[in-house]
Amino acid sequence: MLTKINHIGIAVTSLEATIPFYRDSLGMAFAGIEEVAEQKVRVAMLGVGESKIELLEPTSEDSPVARFIEKNGTGIHHIAYEVADIEAAIAVLLASGTRMVDEKPRAGAHGTRIAFIHPKSSHGVLTELCQAEH
Ligand code: CO
Repeated sequence: MLTKINHIGIAVTSLEATIPFYRDSLGMAFAGIEEVAEQKVRVAMLGVGESKIELLEPTSEDSPVARFIEKNGTGIHHIAYEVADIEAAIAVLLASGTRMVDEKPRAGAHGTRIAFIHPKSSHGVLTELCQAEH
C-alpha cells in the first residue's frame, strides 16, 4: 500500500530563516515555495534523493501549524508516505479500524492529494498519505 516515504514535514516560524540551512548548508535541492491557503501555511520543498523535506510556515495564528508550534515548538510535524491510490489506501485503513483526520483526500502542495491519519491511531506521530501528481 505504501511505496516510500515521500516527505517529512517540519514546522518552522520563518521559511526565509530556515531555507538557507537546508539549501545551502545541507545542499538540498530547493524546489520552490507554495502557499496552501486551506491549511494556512506556506510550504517550501527541498529534495534529498527520492525524498523531500517540507518546511511549513503558518500564515495565520489559527493555522494548525501555528497551534502545533505553540504546543510543541518548531520541529518534525509529520511523516508522509506515498501511495499509488489514495482512495484505496484510506478504504483499507478505515476497514482496519484506523481513525482518519481526512476520510476523503484533499489538495496538498505541488499538485498532490493527501489525507492525514488521526494521531490517536498513529500513536502520536502525525502521518500523511500522499498521492503524487501524475
Ligand atoms: Co506533508
